[in-house]
Amino acid sequence: MEASLLVIPLVLLLLSITANGDRLKVGYYRQTCPQAEEIINDTVTKAFKENPCVPAALIRLHFHDCFVRGCDGSILLDSTADNTAEKDAHVNNLNPKGYEIIDEVKSKLEAKCAGVVSCADLLAYAARDGAYLAGGLFWAVQAGRRDGRISLASEPPLNIPSHSYDVNKLTQVFASKHLSQEDMVTLSGAHSIGASHCAGFSGDRLYNFNGSAGQDPSMNCNYALHLKAKCPPSASPDVLVPFDPVTPTKLDVNYYINLQYNLGLLKSDQELISDDATSREVKINAKYPTIWRKKFGRAMVKMGANDVLTGSQGEIRKHCRYVN
Ligand code: HEM
Ligand SMILES: *[C@@H]1O[C@H](CO)[C@@H](O)[C@H](O)[C@H]1NC(C)=O
Ligand SMILES: *[C@@H]1O[C@H](CO)[C@@H](O)[C@H](O)[C@H]1NC(C)=O
Repeated sequence: MEASLLVIPLVLLLLSITANGDRLKVGYYRQTCPQAEEIINDTVTKAFKENPCVPAALIRLHFHDCFVRGCDGSILLDSTADNTAEKDAHVNNLNPKGYEIIDEVKSKLEAKCAGVVSCADLLAYAARDGAYLAGGLFWAVQAGRRDGRISLASEPPLNIPSHSYDVNKLTQVFASKHLSQEDMVTLSGAHSIGASHCAGFSGDRLYNFNGSAGQDPSMNCNYALHLKAKCPPSASPDVLVPFDPVTPTKLDVNYYINLQYNLGLLKSDQELISDDATSREVKINAKYPTIWRKKFGRAMVKMGANDVLTGSQGEIRKHCRYVN
């Protein structure tokens, strides 16, 4: 047999290993930048003390990074004269605070150990530290990602799930990122913190349900009234509404409890109880916080391994906003 025939399956095997993130490991910077995790945690903790919205911003950043071109820090790159980057896509209306914290941590890391810690890993650690601050959740972060050099505004709309998707569509998007339906329900619990702009739900849930002039019948009436007061049709695009009206800054299972009372904010949230399988997951998570917390950590690790660059792929950016 020709040698080239053997090379092809070998290359495919190596590619699949990379796609699953098997080369990532816990304690990746132990030798090369021993203070990395501490520097990140300290900076995130300090920022959180000034602003309780920090964990939500950081967790969403990591999610939006991982769903577009894998977890490669592409969300952090700034647009340039000849390229509009991911962060400037409409669906990436992220809290700018997140980017500022990442810049601050990165400059501290560069001062201590230049060119060692990738921006993609930084996002994974910062999201974990945010989850600890917002809810006492903890998981060991696997690292060793490298940073990508490509970031295109055209890609987020094709990869980030929309608030108007139904369970089937949501499940498909997560499957395309190597995440199960159970992972999807587990990770959606991140919507127990943070906020949404009125525009993200007022159309399909308050004023224009299914193309009619009315509100979504699957929403609790009093909640709809409350939301209509916060988001009148004339609301400024800057108005934000917390996902969890009960414990808005606490990462907890209240999200799942709320869904059972029809207090989900987005259509994509409330949809989770319209389907038997996802509804079952919602009930389990609502009832067993300890189980959900463990599953959330595991699912974040899984999401964080999505299509990562490792070895000599990509680069370690010096500044998270610019390629080297
Ligand atoms: C299931 C599909 C999902 C959809 C359709 C979705 C959609 C959205 C939308 C529309 C917003 C509000 C954006 C705005 O108006 O500012 C939002 C916020 C947020 N999402 Fe999701 N999301 C999903 C899954 C996830 C996952 C998997 C995570 C993380 C594990 C996550 C974390 C967050 C967080 C933390 C916020 C609040 C951000 C902040 O307040 O700064 N979401 N999401
Ligand atoms: C981050 O810092 C907090 C507060 O000092 C600490 O309790 C927590 O264990 C730290 N997390 C990690 C991952 O080291
Ligand atoms: C939405 O509208 C379509 C067509 O008008 C109708 O067939 C469908 O049943 C409606 N869906 C819901 C959930 O009301």
